Amino acid sequence: MMERPPPAAGRQAGQEPPAALAVPAGLTDHFGRRHTDLRVSVTDRCNLRCTYCMPAETVFRDREELLSFEEITRVVTVAAAEGIRTVRLTGGEPLMRRHLDRLVRLLVAVPGIEEVAATTNGLLLAEQAELLAEAGLARLNVSLDAVREEAFERLARRPGLDRVLAGLAAAREAGFKQIRINAVSMRGLSEREIVPLAEFCRRERFQLRFIEFMPLDAEGSWDKEQVLSGAAVRALLQREIGPLEPVPSVDPGQPAVDWRWRDGGGRVGFIDPVSNPFCDRCDRLRLTADGQFRNCLFSTTEWDVRRFLREGHSDAAIARTLHECVAAKRAAHGIGSAGFERPARAMYEIGG
Ligand code: 5AD
Ligand code: SF4
Repeated sequence: MMERPPPAAGRQAGQEPPAALAVPAGLTDHFGRRHTDLRVSVTDRCNLRCTYCMPAETVFRDREELLSFEEITRVVTVAAAEGIRTVRLTGGEPLMRRHLDRLVRLLVAVPGIEEVAATTNGLLLAEQAELLAEAGLARLNVSLDAVREEAFERLARRPGLDRVLAGLAAAREAGFKQIRINAVSMRGLSEREIVPLAEFCRRERFQLRFIEFMPLDAEGSWDKEQVLSGAAVRALLQREIGPLEPVPSVDPGQPAVDWRWRDGGGRVGFIDPVSNPFCDRCDRLRLTADGQFRNCLFSTTEWDVRRFLREGHSDAAIARTLHECVAAKRAAHGIGSAGFERPARAMYEIGG
């Protein structure tokens, strides 16, 4: 039998939990990592077809396979009672899920949840930024790899740069602070976009972060040679723009290592899952749009929570599934090692 602390229902968001509840043992894995962040994918659909994430053509899941907002809220409520504190909504493209602001409202009201954030490609942000801000969404990450239309279309296989730029402006207008821009860097594909993107972010004061290309593309064509390391991107930025200096890390759960422009041009972050894995600090769990818990982007196993939701099981059964998922978490993803096995799902089917 697994011993668990009682659920923390009724506690105010942001309030310090009582000492006895501070470290819910169940969400600490065998390597001592405590899990407080849940990435929730709300759809596998997307209005772009980024080469590093999706195939050019695909068939999406039927609607009834996706968890309803009420089902997601129930899972998050159970997860929060076990120690989850932050939720990030992802996709596919989360803003393609109709009335996403309604889900945000439901999730910010969950006892124990301190922050609800989202990662979007920005295409629908101009229409939704204000609604999302009003609903209580705390933060936005916008994925953008290029600020030249030709390159945007080559990488995303669809047009839309102008809409993303309008979305960024709308997000700022709606009051979002510290909007982050995430760019995937790939050798031979995005190198020429790095400097213009960095100049744009310096000028507009967006926090730019470069993410190394991971083996999560749909076509399985990932090759180590295509990984443009964070160090290589940094060298290029310093050569073309100017000196950067490291910023001491304040949040150990943050995979990004921040640097700042010496001339006061803001910060640039580097997420280096391939050249510098941060698995030892990982505090994340994932819920796919079709209701499967995953303990890693690179999990090859999933824990079916949808079945529990739809077959009338108790919250305790859902909590137990989450515990099993955490207990099975491996020490590291092992990309590049001999035994590395690609997950069966691509990024858009998992959630970023
Ligand atoms: N490697 C690295 N990052 C990826 N993303 C999607 N696919 C990959 C990949 N293969 C990023 C997107 C977005 C986030 C959700 O994940 O660009 O920023
Ligand atoms: Fe869509 Fe994001 Fe995947 Fe691009 S990376 S295809 S925007 S889900």
